[in-house]
Amino acid sequence: MAPHDEDDNTHVVEEVMVVAEAEKRHVLTIVIVIAMQTEALPLVTKFQLSQDLDSIFPKEVPWVRYHGIYRDLRINIICPGKDRVLRVDSVGTVSASLVTYASIQALQPDLIINAGTACGFRRRGACIGDVFLASDVAFHHRRNPIPVCDRNGICAKQTFPTPNLLKELKLKVGKLSTGDSLDMSPHDEAAIIANDATVKDMEGAAIAYVADLLSVPAIFVKAVTDIVDDDKPTAEEFLKNLVAVTAALDQAVGQVVDFISGKCISEL
Ligand code: ADE
Repeated sequence: MAPHDEDDNTHVVEEVMVVAEAEKRHVLTIVIVIAMQTEALPLVTKFQLSQDLDSIFPKEVPWVRYHGIYRDLRINIICPGKDRVLRVDSVGTVSASLVTYASIQALQPDLIINAGTACGFRRRGACIGDVFLASDVAFHHRRNPIPVCDRNGICAKQTFPTPNLLKELKLKVGKLSTGDSLDMSPHDEAAIIANDATVKDMEGAAIAYVADLLSVPAIFVKAVTDIVDDDKPTAEEFLKNLVAVTAALDQAVGQVVDFISGKCISEL
């Protein structure tokens, strides 16, 4: 047993050293995963990015990459693109996981930013137009009552800590819960409350899962388009506020990127 234990320890120590070295390097390459093109396009303009015509992704997929240099950063905005038949954005956890995995493999980013809209809970202090940085992420739609498998489904994680960024930008902080539905069933609501979440989206925990698998730091910037614990219909409120709240989201992402520029991961 002893030699095996030593091998295991050596492996862990080596991994910790590799992570520590990576955290001392300047951030150079960022991947920003954004599910909806409406949310992404103002940032494409702000950072003066161009659409990748010679795609780094398989030719069959609708995924879109906008890229360019902004200050000292190589910025890539990745959208899962439009469903080929229905022509609507490919929102949700499946597309988000796939594009995140493929983007990390192809671009080896130093940092992932998932930016998007979310709904918020008024009773937890969320208001329309607020921008949150998620402290934790978890799923609320993956049910498995078997002990331990239940926790595997929820997959709760703390996000990469960015205390200096928070101090500088004064964003709200809250836990994010992710599921594949825009509306909220009674079960979802109970699970979101159990996750202690203030905001709910359709991609965050999936992106966190992939980033964690591949040891890439990830942060989650979420702007509130609709409030779930009021009496307004979710879809109507979401569509009514989407454009105005996207402006708040994109302003916050711009500030986050400006803060990151010239810094190491450990300085965030
Ligand atoms: N993004 C914006 N509104 C949302 C909602 N109600 N549920 C999930 N994601 C959202």
